[in-house]
Amino acid sequence: MSKYLIANWKMNLPPEGIEAYLANVCAADPRDVALVVAPPFPFLRHVVQAGAVSVAAQNCSDQQSGALTGEVSPNMIRECGADAVILGHSERRNLFHEPDALIARKLSLAIATGLTPVLCIGEDLRVRDAGEVSRFLADQLKTAAVDALGDAREVIVAYEPIWAIGTGRSATGAMVAETLVEIRQALERFWPSRFASAPILYGGSVTPDNVHDLVAHGTIDGFLVGGASLDSRKFLAIHAGMR
Ligand code: PGA
Repeated sequence: MSKYLIANWKMNLPPEGIEAYLANVCAADPRDVALVVAPPFPFLRHVVQAGAVSVAAQNCSDQQSGALTGEVSPNMIRECGADAVILGHSERRNLFHEPDALIARKLSLAIATGLTPVLCIGEDLRVRDAGEVSRFLADQLKTAAVDALGDAREVIVAYEPIWAIGTGRSATGAMVAETLVEIRQALERFWPSRFASAPILYGGSVTPDNVHDLVAHGTIDGFLVGGASLDSRKFLAIHAGMR
């Protein structure tokens, strides 16, 4: 199974400029890592045209067309040439109040459109302190995805503890390894023959400095990187650290 390194630019552009960024990232030898860039919608085609990386959208609508001002459909994303879509990111869940039922509808439509979903799950500090991480993550997977993944060929899961996103406070490698075992068990329980070996990524304040600790436990299939992915040198240093 190949590994993934996804740059989630969020609503930002690389300070060095898109051209310079893409030239650097596309020149890298990906080895056994699928390099994926997730830019804001207007730049999807731009990144597709750069050629050497896979492209993901950061969100999509649960409808293909209609009077839905400001929304972007899975078909439109596909038409831009993107391969994947990030769904259920905690910023979508918390800042834009997306419930599991909406995430499930987005997942179904994205899958039907041929996009690979990158499904984000993750607990907040209250859940972690209460010792309920395992149950909480299994519930998130179950309510958002058990039915929605019916027709999926593949799914990528991104474990992103909310308290680690954009805070500079990454989870430790040991903590992530333990949680990934629990997520794997939930995948085996819900989709025994299909997604038991789905790639599970980690996201939350990943940098070139902590990537070694995170990969040392050998269970992570890659990373979803926000802040540090905006600088091509840092993004490639994380890639180098995945060896
Ligand atoms: P971060 O964001 O790397 O800036 O913490 C990760 C994410 O939100 O995907």
